Amino acid sequence: MKQIQKTTIILFILFTTGCYYDNEEKLYPVISTDCNLAEVTFSGTIKPILQAACFTCHSNSNYLNSGGGIKLENYADIKIMTGNGKLMGAVKHENGYIPMPQGGGKLTACEINQLQKWIDNGTLNN
Ligand code: HEC
Repeated sequence: MKQIQKTTIILFILFTTGCYYDNEEKLYPVISTDCNLAEVTFSGTIKPILQAACFTCHSNSNYLNSGGGIKLENYADIKIMTGNGKLMGAVKHENGYIPMPQGGGKLTACEINQLQKWIDNGTLNN
């Protein structure tokens, strides 16, 4: 193969794989000002997020058939899954957890930050 072709191929590989190890947190470290982290409540913030993204499988009526036996509708059940680290592990797609929502797009960075904020504030039933 001619040297010029080899160089072209190597450059192509470098350019197309260069961003492979980048992750969202490192690329966008500043939390958007549109994301309200000041007034995160269970009823006004957390439950609506889970309702929209998780209830199809994890509601009280669906969890046995579609949610692997995990309930995420009532405060007490959600608190168990935050307390054992599984909820955040799953929504952040961390190693060792099953990525959630299953078969759907990842929650937005704002939603994940709001969940984390609610936990950091003491997982209140407010
Ligand atoms: C399409 C159905 C579906 C949706 C939507 C879904 N889940 Fe799941 N989830 C499952 C199933 C099924 C399992 C059990 C998987 C298994 O055991 O292999 C599971 C497991 C989990 C687990 C346990 C993970 C672990 O590593 O042990 C957590 C936590 C969880 N889901 C949270 C959520 C959250 C939070 C959402 C919404 C953001 C969500 N799920 C949306 C179906 C779903």
